[in-house]
Amino acid sequence: MTTTAYLNGQFLPLSEARVPVLDRGYLFGDGVYEVIPVYAGKVFKLEAHLDRLQRSLEAIRLHNPYDNHRWIECIRQLISLNGGGKTDQTIYLQVSRGITAKRAHGLPDNPSPSVLAFTWPMAEVPESVISVGVSAITLEDFRWHRCDIKSIALLANVMLADEALRDGHNEAILHRNGKITEGASSNVFCMIDNILVTPARSEMILHGITREFTLELASQAGIRTEERDISTESLRNADEIWISSSTREIYPVTMLDNAAVGTGKPGSNWRAVYSLYQQQKILYME
Ligand code: PDD
Repeated sequence: MTTTAYLNGQFLPLSEARVPVLDRGYLFGDGVYEVIPVYAGKVFKLEAHLDRLQRSLEAIRLHNPYDNHRWIECIRQLISLNGGGKTDQTIYLQVSRGITAKRAHGLPDNPSPSVLAFTWPMAEVPESVISVGVSAITLEDFRWHRCDIKSIALLANVMLADEALRDGHNEAILHRNGKITEGASSNVFCMIDNILVTPARSEMILHGITREFTLELASQAGIRTEERDISTESLRNADEIWISSSTREIYPVTMLDNAAVGTGKPGSNWRAVYSLYQQQKILYME
């Protein structure tokens, strides 16, 4: 089936969607984005994603071209044009600063943002992730200092992810000054002394929607949670490590830098929270 995209007010086949080369998104990576899961045709945590989009836009000093009503309408139409609730989908939304007359670093006075959205079928979580878990490596976080902005300028994330993927790992877990920040495209959790620990929100990490939900579910499961620094050393000694994102949900990391994490199997705390996630993701639909 051809995927239908949305580009600046028009629905068209994704393969035919084009933007001019003078779009600042293309020249400078000057734009922000969101990735949102859709379960059975219903958008998961839509409001939280639209709030974060607004915060990213404010951070890069770009006005939001649409109000929430228009975003919701656009997303709903896009979902229905791409098969509705037949399959779970993932939505990509992007706002770039649009076209300018010439390439110049300074921000234009009256930008005309370019809006792109498309969907793709959500990949099913592979059985091996549930039964075996995934492998990750630790790498120095060499990204910029505003990782809380969901910027489309992802070259550093791409390079870090590639280093992990090339060696057969699922994710790169990043550290800065000896402290864990996040994954190349996920947030990181670990179980230390029966407490679920994740780095506190700061400008060094993306404030993940799945991270927030995972903390909520852990509390429901009776697991104590803490948002604080994690040294690379304590990550290595953790009993469980998890990564979370809108596309992965929550994955158990059972190998870190080619050594087993805890027992080397997906842990019981992960199992409890993952099972709540599966039950509740369809209740939280908007
Ligand atoms: N990435 N940290 C980074 C650097 C990310 O890129 C992502 C998600 C997350 C998790 O955020 P959330 O739970 O809101 O998806 C954390 C998306 C999925 C992507 O770039 O495709």
